[in-house]
Amino acid sequence: MVSSAPSLLLLCVYQVILEGCVGLIPEVGRRRFAESGRTSPQQTEEILSEFEQRLLHMFGLKKRPNPSKNAVVPQYMMELYRLHSGEGSNLAFDQQLEQSASRANTIRGFHHEEYMEELPEASDKTGVHVFFNLTSVLDEDFVTSAQLRIFREKIEDAVSSNTSSQHRINIYEVLRLADSSSVDSITRLLDTRLVHQNETKWESFDVTPAVTRWIKHGHTNRGLLVEVVHVNNDKSVSKAHVRIKRSLHRDDKSWPHVRPLLVTFSHDGKGLPLHKRQKRQSKVKPRRKTKANCRRHPLYVDFSDVGWNDWIVAPPGYHAFYCHGECPFPLADHLNSTNHAIVQTLVNSVNSNIPKACCVPTELSAISMLYLDEYDKVVLKNYQDMVVEGCGCR
Ligand SMILES: *[C@@H]1O[C@H](CO)[C@@H](O)[C@H](O)[C@H]1NC(C)=O
Ligand SMILES: *[C@@H]1O[C@H](CO)[C@@H](O)[C@H](O)[C@H]1NC(C)=O
Ligand SMILES: *[C@@H]1O[C@H](CO)[C@@H](O)[C@H](O)[C@H]1NC(C)=O
Ligand SMILES: *[C@@H]1O[C@H](CO)[C@@H](O)[C@H](O)[C@H]1NC(C)=O
Repeated sequence: MVSSAPSLLLLCVYQVILEGCVGLIPEVGRRRFAESGRTSPQQTEEILSEFEQRLLHMFGLKKRPNPSKNAVVPQYMMELYRLHSGEGSNLAFDQQLEQSASRANTIRGFHHEEYMEELPEASDKTGVHVFFNLTSVLDEDFVTSAQLRIFREKIEDAVSSNTSSQHRINIYEVLRLADSSSVDSITRLLDTRLVHQNETKWESFDVTPAVTRWIKHGHTNRGLLVEVVHVNNDKSVSKAHVRIKRSLHRDDKSWPHVRPLLVTFSHDGKGLPLHKRQKRQSKVKPRRKTKANCRRHPLYVDFSDVGWNDWIVAPPGYHAFYCHGECPFPLADHLNSTNHAIVQTLVNSVNSNIPKACCVPTELSAISMLYLDEYDKVVLKNYQDMVVEGCGCR
């Protein structure tokens, strides 16, 4: 893929400014930059803050997220990240997930707003109202699908007694909440599943139609209703094992990891969708130092050096690489040149007013990033053209 890479360009500009300082080390960078004596400290600040703004813009963010201390990154999002970054994931094959991800370049995870979960007393619905604030899904994002994930724990009785006790989990979209004038909420069934009580696992429900109505068609989001119904009319078994509510007598620490999670898959129209990557071998092969011909050089961008590791959950940094070197006359085949570059180099050899061809990235690849946005929501996103795969004279 041949394409311009604003990101890499920025990194290179930064490198040039810092005179060969490899990496994005703001403190060292600031100092060196300031000591170069070419700019006043104020100009230095301006340039570096401009630099940070440009990077944030590239990531599609208006300002630098400042996640709160108690922001929790759901395990599922971590697993999705591993799956899409080639780190090897424990996620079992899931056709629905594969399909959703293959049409999206952004996956967001939402916990529900607990202050909004109580249904009015009058309601005869037995479900739990869960409301997810989806404000951070931007208007320009095209939502391809959404799933509600609910954790349920097995009931020991059901395991030991061999009874095939089952219950049904119904997920509704709330169209109108019950209030003083109407006893019932008005709801629309989105998905339903019959589950055995002998297993501990996450259940995933398709809530795409509701999320699409909220985000694409601008309908008011009044939340979802989760209802647990016993099939064999076995009221003796408690419903508490379906974790939709924080329970007082339980360990509070477990709640962030078992509470419901709404996952949206969307595409912002930029770049390629997420795709499952094979476990990657270490990319950085030590290379013989031969002639200074155009080739790829190591450049590791460490997010903790920029102080961004508080909102970028993973990866901690990545190998971006850069292209550098001579494009000598005559251009050799392995320099990935074009006919035009060959001609330009040829002309340069007789007329030095015409520059030589430049050593630039000829092939770039994407990385996946997991981060907390300005609303403390977890986002997994694919960013294209972040890693140099090949260099050439162009
Ligand atoms: C949703 O989140 C946004 C941004 O944090 C906030 O402004 C808005 O009030 C929230 N909406 C609700 C219904 O909580
Ligand atoms: C449960 O099922 C197993 C295997 O089918 C059987 O050996 C066992 O006796 C059953 N236990 C009860 C309590 O029915
Ligand atoms: C749970 O029960 C169902 C039906 O009795 C059975 O098919 C399934 O294998 C059981 N699962 C486990 C983990 O025991
Ligand atoms: C030319 O491109 C290929 C594939 O993109 C790459 O493997 C190779 O290293 C590149 N050549 C140079 C000199 O970088």
